[in-house]
Amino acid sequence: MKIDFIQEVQSRRTFAIISHPDAGKTTLTEQLLLFGGAIRAAGTVKGKKSGKFATSDWMEIEKQRGISVTSSVMAFDYDDYRVNILDTPGHQDFSEDTYRTLMAVDSAVMIIDSAKGIEAQTLKLFKVCRMRGIPIFTFINKLDRQGREPLELLEELEEVLGIQSYPMNWPIGMGKEFLGIYDRFHNRIEQFRVEEEDRFIPLNDEGEIEGEHPLKESNLYNQTLEDVLLLNEAGNQFSRERIANGELSPVFFGSALTNFGVQTFLETYLQFAPSPQPRNSDAGEIEPTAEDFSGFVFKIQANMNPAHRDRIAFVRICSGQFERGMTVNLSRTGKSIKLAQSTQFLADDRSTVNEAVSGDIIGVYDTGTYQIGDTLVQGKQGFQYEKLPQFTPELFVRVTAKNVMKQKHFQKGILQLVQEGAIQYYKTRTEDIILGAVGQLQFEVFEHRMKNEYNVDVKMEPIGSKIARWIENEEDVKETMSSSRSMLVKDRHDNLVFLFENDFAMRWFNDKNPDIRLYSLM
Ligand code: G4P
Repeated sequence: MKIDFIQEVQSRRTFAIISHPDAGKTTLTEQLLLFGGAIRAAGTVKGKKSGKFATSDWMEIEKQRGISVTSSVMAFDYDDYRVNILDTPGHQDFSEDTYRTLMAVDSAVMIIDSAKGIEAQTLKLFKVCRMRGIPIFTFINKLDRQGREPLELLEELEEVLGIQSYPMNWPIGMGKEFLGIYDRFHNRIEQFRVEEEDRFIPLNDEGEIEGEHPLKESNLYNQTLEDVLLLNEAGNQFSRERIANGELSPVFFGSALTNFGVQTFLETYLQFAPSPQPRNSDAGEIEPTAEDFSGFVFKIQANMNPAHRDRIAFVRICSGQFERGMTVNLSRTGKSIKLAQSTQFLADDRSTVNEAVSGDIIGVYDTGTYQIGDTLVQGKQGFQYEKLPQFTPELFVRVTAKNVMKQKHFQKGILQLVQEGAIQYYKTRTEDIILGAVGQLQFEVFEHRMKNEYNVDVKMEPIGSKIARWIENEEDVKETMSSSRSMLVKDRHDNLVFLFENDFAMRWFNDKNPDIRLYSLM
């Protein structure tokens, strides 16, 4: 038992990094792990672009470094904090799990490539964070390269994402002329490629360098002073409260590859990022410091070890303290479960967890007991945390069993994998089965697991990307509205869904059937 449980909970910082592939998530993560003492050497992670592996970037780190980190969660201690970073797989690993992971964090770090600005995947992930109202911290990366004007990037942030920003620091030049950052928050300048003893220059009350300094000769320095003046006068006010509500994003500039501005970012982030927050349940809000253990399953990962068929259910602890061997109640079924075999994702090794508190993520072995969204509660008073949202899939395939004799296994496998949240299920009028996914990997995993776990070879016929829309007034829908461009199907709860071929087909449908009210999931 920890001496001060409340203090333990408040020291937790649980977040995910959201970004578009190549913005620098892996590089930044590595640097953070380095500061946390979780790894000893950093270097560019190679081989990632070969695209051969449908593995997480972190598994790639693991392979490169020969260290044992898991693909999904990394925990390390820094100062008095316990930092939990949850991976949000991108590239071909992008899936509903990527979205669901964002349900388990208390804040998000958004990395933006300074040459590219906001990219598609960042936008998608950002929307999920916004929906939850969690704080979003922005790291604008690759300042050691020529990028876009910082003011222009901030404008884009506000316009495209609709969030206000507060630059905690401001770059002095960029690319070959990158001199460092003007740190508004700490009232100091942090110089690029300067030895540690001389790296920081304190500023006076006017926010300028006192006395003589070679930097003062530089036009870039003077330009920065002008920019900062403008930000002070015309920019957003700093507000801790608005950051906490996810309305204002603190922005940091830096270069993950050269490890510049990363530590400043981490330390400032830890100050302002929220500790575990209360969560809604059908029994009201549950405080993270409530005594009884509770948590929910946000991800189920199969075959982490190919030698075993077991799965790991990832549980976000929302209250109380986990102790190995404890008995909890699975709210969905009312059954008691002893959590004997469990894993915590501490950096040094995938250690067996003995205790963990609110904010931490634990992995529990699953032999088919859990479903995504399941709530686990200690004690007799069972309750259920808010349902995890379903996400609108974008890719679809028609699926059949290659061998018709395997129909029974086929049905059983699909049912279980759909329940587990691995894939989404739709049925056409002619009982054809269509699967929907957020990313291609979900199909690959589905195919693999059908073969390995249910011994069924499946035939998957891509029907491409579609726009899926649910219907508010189902009673007004007629069969005749269905066509090859606007296919009418049912989801697994028997709700009607239109799968539109493209935007054009959807607009055309709307024009023709103005009374049908369509909506999308997240
Ligand atoms: P990701 O996980 O978000 O996909 O990105 P990752 O960290 O792998 O970074 C993508 C590429 O960008 C890597 O180059 C990485 O070295 C580079 N990079 C990351 N941060 C910085 C930075 O601050 N400055 C610069 N200049 N580059 C950065 P790579 O995989 O070796 O590819 P390439 O750029 O050599 O083609």
